[in-house]
Amino acid sequence: MKGIVFCEFLEMVESEDGFGMVDRLIESAKLPSGGSYTAVGTYDHAELVALLIAYSGQKNLSVPELLRAFGKYLFGRFVVLYPVFFENKRSAFDFLSHIDSYIHVEVRKLYADAELPKFTHRVLDHNRLELTYTSAKHLPDFAEGLMRGCIDHFGETIELNRQAVVFDGVESERFTLTRS
Ligand code: HEM
Repeated sequence: MKGIVFCEFLEMVESEDGFGMVDRLIESAKLPSGGSYTAVGTYDHAELVALLIAYSGQKNLSVPELLRAFGKYLFGRFVVLYPVFFENKRSAFDFLSHIDSYIHVEVRKLYADAELPKFTHRVLDHNRLELTYTSAKHLPDFAEGLMRGCIDHFGETIELNRQAVVFDGVESERFTLTRS
């Protein structure tokens, strides 16, 4: 997983709980990298899981809850870091239906070795969008947090439901977004 994800995670922890907490997590997660990440480096995503487990122990929140919170936070950071990706995107549905065809394509130009998930989308009707997430990393809670961050960014009211499915023979998650 790209270092930018780790850097942003540790920044979220620092902004919420201070640098002492960052130190404690790095200590207790026993990370092969030692916890020093650069945005363009690549690290085992098991290190993120180890940090999340350590943070979960400190915060009395589950790992899925923390992954959702982190996804939401990270989307807000993407808005600041990559304003160009938001040009001409007028709604959450517009943005989310372009993850595979545009957003992550551009991400790959910045980070050639990024291991990106697959999102297939289906417009069910004017107010309903279906997104199916497939990834060897299988982080559906992270995907949900990013989607919720996206919905907040566009200031829309969208209900989100999800269901585990097998898609092309792979364990996946199907999200149904309903706009009101
Ligand atoms: C400006 C918008 C976005 C940017 C710049 C961006 C960038 C990235 C980057 C750099 C990674 C790490 C790749 C790696 O570690 O090798 C990543 C992974 C990921 N992205 Fe995006 N992304 C964006 C939007 C989204 C949205 C809206 C979603 C979901 C709704 C999403 C879902 C994911 C997930 C779930 C991963 C984790 C890797 C995996 O599951 O295999 N991204 N993205």
